[in-house]
Amino acid sequence: MRLSWRKKAKKVPDIRKITWISETGSTNDLARENFQKRGVLWHCFVADSQTRGRGRKGRSWISPPGTGLYLSIAIPRPGILEAWFPLTCAVASLTAIQSLLTKSRCAKPPSIRIKWPNDLYIGNGKMAGMLCELTSGSESSAWIIGIGINISTSEDAFPEDLKEKACSISSATGCQVSRDSLLKELLVYLSFWLDKIYEGDISAICNFLEKTKIMGIATRNSQLATRNSNHQITKFPNPLGITMGCPAGIGPEIIIKAFAANPEWLLSPPAIVIGDMNILKRAAKALDINIPIKSWMPGDSLSGNAIHVITRTDLNIEDIPWGKPSSATGKASFDYVTEGIRLCQEERLSGLVTAPINKLGLKLAGIDYPGHTEILADRTNTKRYAMMLAGDRLRVTLVTIHCPLREVADSISTEKNFQVISLTDFSLKNEFGIKKPEIAVAGLNPHGGESGMFGHEEEQVITPAIEMAQERGIAANGPYPPDTVFYQAINGKFDAVVCQYHDQGLIPFKLIHFRDGVNLTLGLPIVRTSVDHGTAYDIAGTGKADCASLEAAIRLASKIVVNRLGASVNN
Ligand code: BTN
Repeated sequence: MRLSWRKKAKKVPDIRKITWISETGSTNDLARENFQKRGVLWHCFVADSQTRGRGRKGRSWISPPGTGLYLSIAIPRPGILEAWFPLTCAVASLTAIQSLLTKSRCAKPPSIRIKWPNDLYIGNGKMAGMLCELTSGSESSAWIIGIGINISTSEDAFPEDLKEKACSISSATGCQVSRDSLLKELLVYLSFWLDKIYEGDISAICNFLEKTKIMGIATRNSQLATRNSNHQITKFPNPLGITMGCPAGIGPEIIIKAFAANPEWLLSPPAIVIGDMNILKRAAKALDINIPIKSWMPGDSLSGNAIHVITRTDLNIEDIPWGKPSSATGKASFDYVTEGIRLCQEERLSGLVTAPINKLGLKLAGIDYPGHTEILADRTNTKRYAMMLAGDRLRVTLVTIHCPLREVADSISTEKNFQVISLTDFSLKNEFGIKKPEIAVAGLNPHGGESGMFGHEEEQVITPAIEMAQERGIAANGPYPPDTVFYQAINGKFDAVVCQYHDQGLIPFKLIHFRDGVNLTLGLPIVRTSVDHGTAYDIAGTGKADCASLEAAIRLASKIVVNRLGASVNN
């Protein structure tokens, strides 16, 4: 591979400062200490041997003297693209080894494969591994990247259990390469590829990966095979659809950010986007990320290495200023959602993840829905539905949603409580895969009414609903005093808390899951998760928006799809 001629100044310096050590515990520790004590970055530590060389997942890295390259470098953090480091180090090592083998006129340079995300293999033997560790200094934090390459390590050097699994460049190719030349080559390629990450140029890496064999990442075909052998799922689900949300809001940029932060989503996409190519490209530009975006139609293959988009609108970016809802943004957001619903109903998509839309935009477009939930319920003809907010530590469902506090007491009927308890139980079992869920039902009044002293809704409205649920085999408990029930839930006593009104549930939920909470609609025939925030017009286009909630919504929707399929196959 030739390094292309550069027009722009590189952000990554040439790595020239090298310290050689004959023996050390781990070069990663040397680079870390040097960064922590002196704040030094881009300094390369190389050891002839390591006594405590370490690998990922607590494994050790066998580092006998004179037979391998063991090096570590502290490098600055590049923001959202840091998830690309291990893979980028693997790409740099692969290209360096290949280049050196070609230069050394190795008779048959072998095909080197990447085992996701950061091992290099020749045949069935692992020849190199990367260990990237985050570390904090006094003023900033840095990544320590550690690379180990077996150059001429003999089989005898590896313990019994690794003899079959490990290899070296010379054992696998029959070619001899010198450690000095490999170090020189590796530093050039590291500087070249890491520069792509600091430049935000994911396309360059994706283009390279397109031509490289990658093992260990579940492609749609390999997942199909795995699941069939489990006899659980007979068909790998279609992708999810992410609706782009209001084109003037933060939806487009959080979508770009989420894919950029999850390299495996580009290579093996869990979801496609329903939206507008021009707007997504503008968002990528605003984030200074060069990421491949391809147009896609249901039925097309999902080739990976790109964000795939069903283009529903062809908006002119000049007409859509950031942060300004209009009839065009309202109409477009509505169209993405209705198209997503249609494709789910036709089973061309396995579920929907919705980015935020804006009520004013809908109104300006003459569309009379207050939000997503109502559109979804209406279009799928669903009468019984409920809103759940879900995070790793807490799940809450709501008996009343957007209801003025003054009206709450009159709105919480026994029937509504029972309905929400049943929907919560069904979802916990079939969507979250919890065999015997425990549900807490919060009271309405202080201390749960204190035997009628502070209100009667607990006795008259909520308790009958809990009893009805219990009669049907649901493990519903309560009503509990609202001030303590959430503490018990986050400590593992309950799988979900049924809340009587919006802020009763959302205040504790957001206290814990402000960044990564997911909103989902229970009771729909289709899977639907959503971000737990709005269009954030004030920061749209600035790159400040956090994509954590969208990432969590995509992960949760994937899990629900798999659990629902599992439930339907097992039933
Ligand atoms: C793995 O395959 O799990 C990662 C192996 C990383 C090994 C290198 S060798 C140089 C640096 N120092 C260490 O202790 N580990 C890394």
